[in-house]
Amino acid sequence: MSGWLITGGCGFIGSNFVRLAAARRLGPLLVLDALTYAGNLANIVDLLDGGQVSFVRGNVRDSALLAQLFARHDLSHVVHFAAESHVDRSILGPKPFLETNVDGTFALLEAARTAWNGAAGRRLFLQVSTDEVFGSLAPDEPPFDERSPYRPNSPYAASKAAADHLARAWRHTFGLPVAVANCSNNYGPWQFPEKLIPLMILNAIDGKELPVYGDGQQVRDWLHVEDHCEALLAILAGGRAGATYAIGGGDECPNLAIVSAICAEVDRQLGRPAGTADRLIRHVADRPGHDRRYAIDAAQIARELGWRPRHRLLPALPGLIRWYRDHRAWAEAIRSGEYRDYYQRQYGGRLA
Ligand code: NAD
Ligand code: TYD
Repeated sequence: MSGWLITGGCGFIGSNFVRLAAARRLGPLLVLDALTYAGNLANIVDLLDGGQVSFVRGNVRDSALLAQLFARHDLSHVVHFAAESHVDRSILGPKPFLETNVDGTFALLEAARTAWNGAAGRRLFLQVSTDEVFGSLAPDEPPFDERSPYRPNSPYAASKAAADHLARAWRHTFGLPVAVANCSNNYGPWQFPEKLIPLMILNAIDGKELPVYGDGQQVRDWLHVEDHCEALLAILAGGRAGATYAIGGGDECPNLAIVSAICAEVDRQLGRPAGTADRLIRHVADRPGHDRRYAIDAAQIARELGWRPRHRLLPALPGLIRWYRDHRAWAEAIRSGEYRDYYQRQYGGRLA
């Protein structure tokens, strides 16, 4: 049976995807992950002894390794999650974003092109991308869709945009069967606690300050990670090579409203007086170049592939907070390592 190469399968979305695909007996699934600060084998380790999921530690820029993997395994699908994914880190140091997101995608496209040259049967290279490539929306502008122009603003978004352009060109010039998925902000289990929602949940539980950038009125379109993974599976099953798919929850919410909802629910779950966690909110110096609003019109994927989101953010928060409370050891292992230095660099000056 032909297999799927999942890059970045030990990160937040990749590990949720591997879990869902393994439960559906899809694959075999070969996970390639460099285990950077954001990659954690613990996210999928329980799946590795069934024989359906295997793991190779390696870098997506390693062309020799990629050639070896394509030669040894009959790979029909590539699901390319591996990336440097955090905007704030791309501002502190953009270089790894270009190395992994641009050079890494280039190496992977070349490996697939060489291996799939003339091969028969359905094959797909799914480039997992973001809505941040489209830039920022004004409050009254319609949401992004597949026709929106690319206007990336952060180093992270620019590196993902470059990777998407490479994927598009490899389709156009070399006929590689490529699809691109541009998804909005995800939330869910196993998310690295540098991102807004897990950071605020863990800090609120611990009674630590809650750093809200600027006025906190920036808007994101939130999508549960399971809904994103279902959309990717739908593209892998029935998506068109050459197509792009805009994926989003239609669930716009300003940051401050999310943080307040987390505070109220954490107080409730921990039996603390209402308002306790709210007092930890600090409006801190804004992120340079901070995009004001993202939103996605997901009508195309609904129409073509019948995909629709099943979760909504605010009703999902109580269950998500319980998940992070139940996985303290996982979170603590992360927060005691490199994360501490990052946290100090990112927030030390802002919270002083
Ligand atoms: P993440 O940071 O949690 O995980 C990234 C994974 O990639 C980690 O396991 C890391 O070890 C691995 N990795 C990094 N560099 C690598 C390299 N050079 N070689 C091999 N592996 C490497 O990221 P995420 O939030 O799970 O995002 C996954 C993908 O989805 C990214 O491409 C991101 O741009 C995209 N995306 C994320 C969101 C979101 O809200 N998190 C939304 C839309 C799209
Ligand atoms: P983030 O989770 O980093 O996702 P992205 O920047 O890719 O959208 O941030 C989501 C929003 O939350 C974004 O507007 C920045 C804001 N934010 C804060 O206000 N404080 C924080 O400490 C973090 C990490 C994010």
